[in-house]
Amino acid sequence: MTSTPTIIDVARLAGVSTTTVSHFINGTRYVSDDLRDRVEKAIAELGYRPNSMARGLRKGESKTIGLIVPDNSNPFFAEILRSIENIGYSNGYSVILCNSDGDIAKEIAYTELLFAKQVDGIVFITTNNSCEHLQQLSDNGIPIIVIDRDIPLKGTDVLLVDNFQGGYEATRYLIGLGHTRIACITGPSLLTPSAERVNGYKKALAQAGIAENPDWIVAGDFQFAGGENGIEKLMNLQNRPTAVFACNDLMALGVLRGIRKAGLSVPGNLSLIGFDDIPLASVVSPALTTISQPIQKISEMAIELLINRLQKKEIKFEEKRIVFPTEIVVRESCKKYGA
Ligand code: RIB
Repeated sequence: MTSTPTIIDVARLAGVSTTTVSHFINGTRYVSDDLRDRVEKAIAELGYRPNSMARGLRKGESKTIGLIVPDNSNPFFAEILRSIENIGYSNGYSVILCNSDGDIAKEIAYTELLFAKQVDGIVFITTNNSCEHLQQLSDNGIPIIVIDRDIPLKGTDVLLVDNFQGGYEATRYLIGLGHTRIACITGPSLLTPSAERVNGYKKALAQAGIAENPDWIVAGDFQFAGGENGIEKLMNLQNRPTAVFACNDLMALGVLRGIRKAGLSVPGNLSLIGFDDIPLASVVSPALTTISQPIQKISEMAIELLINRLQKKEIKFEEKRIVFPTEIVVRESCKKYGA
């Protein structure tokens, strides 16, 4: 346990989730008598004090911004970090980077840490859609800008891309090359970007009169291995696809390695399109055709909105929800069917 007990220590001692402790402290959801007793006992035993975010104690500006992302070893999030840090710095802000690693307890601990550090605002990409801990910060006057993945957080601004259109356009492109046996390797289904891209894929197939083949929709994880394992599954099918839409570039790179391990080639045996347009997409061989996300524009807007709120440029804050268009970047990883 750290010297100062945290919400994680309380949850561990009480044998409940950190979310339950957060609901107990904030009264944001019903907590049974049994769980309440256990949490109360743990708080008393540890001497836990909900940190100042529960009491909304705020002092002046720290000129610091918190950035919570799932994993900045993913080049997409590394690009987000680079842009946010550059633009923040040019506006006089430093950035504290937090990797949640898909761990809600870590995400909660980081929100407590950022509040304790008195950050002026937070740019947030969710790892699993729960957001009570962020709601508490927002309700206590910390401006939060949600980017990339949609979550039901009240009083904040949300910046997204049109993932449905991106998935639709990627699939339309493959159909335009004559492919009808088109597979999709998805990201985590609970995350809005993946779900919407897959819906765009399905819409394009339906519009072209191509029946969906459930064998060709493979669950991935937005990680390299998810792409490599996904293409292995697809290539072991009797009725193999001739094209794949990978819902992010990291998985598309995994597909490239999986195809090579199978002694096949892209685009010779399989056309491949990704999503994100990470820097690697243009330097791998073959260079990856993909759907690009306007990371720089999103980052600029995120900092602008944050500064607007901090400088209270708007008396009444209208919650902004801005959806940026994506665009296809055609490179070398796709070819006409049968060519
Ligand atoms: O590569 C990471 C993926 O997760 C990206 O497509 C981005 O949209 C994020 O949601």
